[in-house]
Amino acid sequence: MVDILNVSKRFGDLEVLKDITIHIADREIYGIIGQSGAGKSTLLRCINGLEDYQSGEIVVNGVKVNKKDEKALHELQRTMGMIFQNFNLLERLDVYDNVALPMKFWGIDTKTPEAKEKIEGLVRMVGLEEKLHARPRELSGGQKQRVAIARALVLDPKILLCDEATSALDPAITRGILDLLQQINKELGITIIVVTHQMEVVKQICRRVAFIKDGRVLAEGRPEELFVKPEKDVKKFLQSDSNLLPAEGINIQLFFTDKTDEPIITMMARELNINFSICWGKLEDFRSSVYGSLVINVKEEDRDNVLAYLNRVGVAWEVL
Ligand SMILES: Nc1ncnc2c1ncn2[C@@H]1O[C@H](COP(=O)(O)OP(=O)(O)OP(=O)(O)O)[C@@H](O)[C@H]1O
Ligand SMILES: [Mg+2]
Repeated sequence: MVDILNVSKRFGDLEVLKDITIHIADREIYGIIGQSGAGKSTLLRCINGLEDYQSGEIVVNGVKVNKKDEKALHELQRTMGMIFQNFNLLERLDVYDNVALPMKFWGIDTKTPEAKEKIEGLVRMVGLEEKLHARPRELSGGQKQRVAIARALVLDPKILLCDEATSALDPAITRGILDLLQQINKELGITIIVVTHQMEVVKQICRRVAFIKDGRVLAEGRPEELFVKPEKDVKKFLQSDSNLLPAEGINIQLFFTDKTDEPIITMMARELNINFSICWGKLEDFRSSVYGSLVINVKEEDRDNVLAYLNRVGVAWEVL
């Protein structure tokens, strides 16, 4: 469990994190999303103790992240694996030795049968058994990230921290890496914290997400809630407000969060005996469910009836 409580951090005069409070449950895949410079990487570095913070508290699995207590911090860091956008592999080492590197740091013999089994098992899990003795330069970007993931898991961490782990990869390869992270979360029971500016990443794997802007948490919740009905700043970030709407009549946006398959709109038209036009609609795929939003245009005089009907059937709406 990761508890971040009222954390603030400054670099000199620059306040980078402002009163951040986030609770991440065991075995959760949690997303931290926001624009460049929002403070995402800094927050991640505070969680694993690479950066200090000035106020508040970060507690990981019951232990406070405290740079002053070096020994405790060192032990805690062993329980957190980390992967980055640029993979950070050592070019002079092959896949096996790159994965083994954290063991070497901790003085663990990497040539014992147990170590060998561990390393080869992880390389197999990330799908690279045929590349066991390849050098990084012989691997594609996606394969390099797989090595980095295996390396991050070699000390059996409880938490995996991912900083823009898929930003350098194309969409198809990204999907493969996200599937792998999901598999790791499920099979090894590891908590995963994903820092990203890509909405696709959050949509595909995160159970909950915090949207960060200028060092503050502006919104938090399930991705489907954040994206299907975004608040103003989130909407701006997602640039979903650029749609042209008719100037005549009333534009109403409807949000479908569960009953997407029910023909609510056509039923409404029949029941209220009205006409309307559809301006735009979109469906979003969140892990296994589909959520949608739709903008319709109705006549001014039908407005109250339509809104009353939507309230009655329990569809969320917003007049645009
Ligand atoms: N070591 C540092 N010293 C001074 N300022 C820093 C340092 N590291 C980060 N900053 C500043 O802190 C702010 C947040 O940086 P951070 O790297 O956390 O953003 P980010 O959300 O990860 O951005 P990106 O999406 O570009 O990676 C930025 O204004 C950055 O310039
Ligand atoms: Mg960053």
